[in-house]
Amino acid sequence: MCESFAKDLLAWYDAHARVLPWRISPADRAKGVMPDPYRIWLSEVMLQQTTVAAVKDYFNRFTTRWPDVAALAAAADADVMAEWAGLGYYARARNLLACARAVASAGGFPKTEAGLLALPGVGPYTAAAIAAIAFDLPAVVVDGNVERVTSRIFAMNDPLPAARPKLRDLAAELSPRERPGDYAQAMMDLGATICTPRNPACTICPVFSHCAARRLGIAAELPRKAPK
Ligand code: ADE
Repeated sequence: MCESFAKDLLAWYDAHARVLPWRISPADRAKGVMPDPYRIWLSEVMLQQTTVAAVKDYFNRFTTRWPDVAALAAAADADVMAEWAGLGYYARARNLLACARAVASAGGFPKTEAGLLALPGVGPYTAAAIAAIAFDLPAVVVDGNVERVTSRIFAMNDPLPAARPKLRDLAAELSPRERPGDYAQAMMDLGATICTPRNPACTICPVFSHCAARRLGIAAELPRKAPK
C-alpha cells in the first residue's frame, strides 16, 4: 500500500506542485537544492492558523525586511509586532522572536525533530513539518489535511478527536522512506486542492485507486466528528 500510494502521489506532485514563496520545486529538490530552514520555519509558524493565500504577502514582507534568522533576531520587538499586525494570534509573533533569538545564538536551527520541538512556538506538527521539508528527515507530518486524506484512504469511520492517534499510525503507514519533504507537501497540496472537506474532486484524484472511502461513496462524509 505505502509504496504505490506514495509513488502515485509523488508523480502527481512532480507535475502539479503549487508554487509557493517558501517552497523548493520538486525538480530543484531532485537536483539536490535544499530549502532554507529559516524560510520553512517562518512559513510554518505563519501557516499555523492562517491560510496560504493570506500568508504569502506577510511571508514576502518579512523575508525582504529580515532575510535570515540573525536579522530577525536583531529586530526590535515593536517592528516585528507591527509587521505581524493582521495575522492575529499575537503569541505566535512573540514566540517567533524568542525562537529567532534562541536559534541565532545557537548558530542555526537544530537538525532533528526533537531539537526543533524544543524551540519556542514549535509544536509536534511544526517540528515534523520543518524536519521533513527543510531537512528531508522521515518525520510523520499530520495536520488537518493529512487527517482528512488518511481517514478517506482507509475509510476510517471513528470520529475525531478520539480517532487522532489511530489516524497518526495510519498516516505513518502511508509515509514513504524516500522524499519525505516532497511527500509532506504533496499531502498538503492534495488536501488543499483535491481531497477538500466538501465536494472532494475524486474523479481527478491521483490516489483514487487507493481510496477505500471513494469506493464506498463516503469520501465527503469523512473524517467523522463526535457530536459536541
Ligand atoms: N500548510 C501548512 N504548511 C504548508 C506548506 N508548507 N505548504 C502548503 N500549505 C501548508
